[in-house]
Amino acid sequence: MDASTAADSSWSLVETINQSPPVDTSLPYDTASLAGKTILITGGASGFGAAFARKWAGHGSNIILGDINDKAGEELIAELRALPGSSKQHFFQHCDVTVWEDQVALFKMGVRASPTGGIDAVVAGAGIVESRNSESGKVFDHPRNLDAENPPPPPLNVLAVNLTGVMFTCHLAIFWLERNGGKDQQEKRDRHLLLVSSIAGVIPLPGQTEYAASKHAVVGLFRTLRGTLWQQGIRCNVICPYFVDTPLLPPSGMALLAGSGKAELEDVVDAATRLMADEAIAGRGLAIGPKFHIVDGENGQVRLVDGAKDGKGAGRKQAVWEIYAHDYDQVEVFVWRFMQLLNTLKAVMGWVGLFKDLIKIFFVRKTPQRG
Ligand SMILES: NC(=O)c1ccc[n+]([C@@H]2O[C@H](COP(=O)([O-])OP(=O)(O)OC[C@H]3O[C@@H](n4cnc5c(N)ncnc54)[C@H](O)[C@@H]3O)[C@@H](O)[C@H]2O)c1
Repeated sequence: MDASTAADSSWSLVETINQSPPVDTSLPYDTASLAGKTILITGGASGFGAAFARKWAGHGSNIILGDINDKAGEELIAELRALPGSSKQHFFQHCDVTVWEDQVALFKMGVRASPTGGIDAVVAGAGIVESRNSESGKVFDHPRNLDAENPPPPPLNVLAVNLTGVMFTCHLAIFWLERNGGKDQQEKRDRHLLLVSSIAGVIPLPGQTEYAASKHAVVGLFRTLRGTLWQQGIRCNVICPYFVDTPLLPPSGMALLAGSGKAELEDVVDAATRLMADEAIAGRGLAIGPKFHIVDGENGQVRLVDGAKDGKGAGRKQAVWEIYAHDYDQVEVFVWRFMQLLNTLKAVMGWVGLFKDLIKIFFVRKTPQRG
């Protein structure tokens, strides 16, 4: 394929995607549209989902939560109902996203409970990481005892939650969002599907093979769904956060990142709120990383300035980045630029062995056991 053909096919792909223009994350956005929206969040009892719920309920949204953690889910609903100015129309239901019937029931409950009779937005947030402390004690790239008689297959429980569960959520979301139009179906209401990938959806994450595979798959899901969902009036967006201190990550992992390059929960909430509130944004991806202090350079490049972490001096601070994911070339540009920043930060801060630390976060390798 010559260069002109490649350029032509790239253009037709962009047209097929029908995405909105790039998001300028330095501009303010209006949260007014959040009032009265019914938003269903899976994995909403903790971490990102809980933070989204608090923020959006505070702006008048009605929150429908599904999670396996019933206690945290019920407590959060009580908290949301007590918020000043809250709609009080917040509900929790037990839902294991890997169980299709649980998700069917969650969406039906959401529609029944919604003051408008429909669901305006869905966040596919439930997710887990590979853990040595899991029931099986196994991680994907350290197989054990496979020379035994009839060894079991790998559990693949991370894929079950992070991919199968997300696909169940998307399947139901498309059905119910397409029917969102007020009680008489005549009202023009938002239809938004927000996917939660990770920085591990665009770069490798050594030691978390299954997790990285699942999050790459979510980016693939996003890139593909946004090519069709606009025809049903559904906006599809994705967030790809860097490491954030939530119960997902082991405390030992966060300790390793202390004082260095972790992202902040408030920046993830800010990125998701922009996508949720600005109904003109469709087919876009936002990455959320450490808050870098940067200046613009030539040819669209950026560079870190002194005081990278404390934000002193000239330049601006930025934590949320658009991912131009309409083709792999541009994803690579994003990855290259982002990694350049991380490497520079490492040099500036004396940050020892980024990847070594990342591996340690999830996976302190032990000597493989025999037979
Ligand atoms: N924390 C990070 O650094 C980070 C970075 C990038 C992406 N993410 C992604 O963000 C999402 C939320 O993670 P978090 O950091 O808020 O973690 P978290 O552990 O605080 O929240 C995840 C929630 O999912 C729920 N959950 C787990 N398995 C479930 C299942 N089978 N069915 C229903 N609910 C289930 C948990 O009970 C929990 O409430 C995940 O998809 C995660 O992969 C997290």
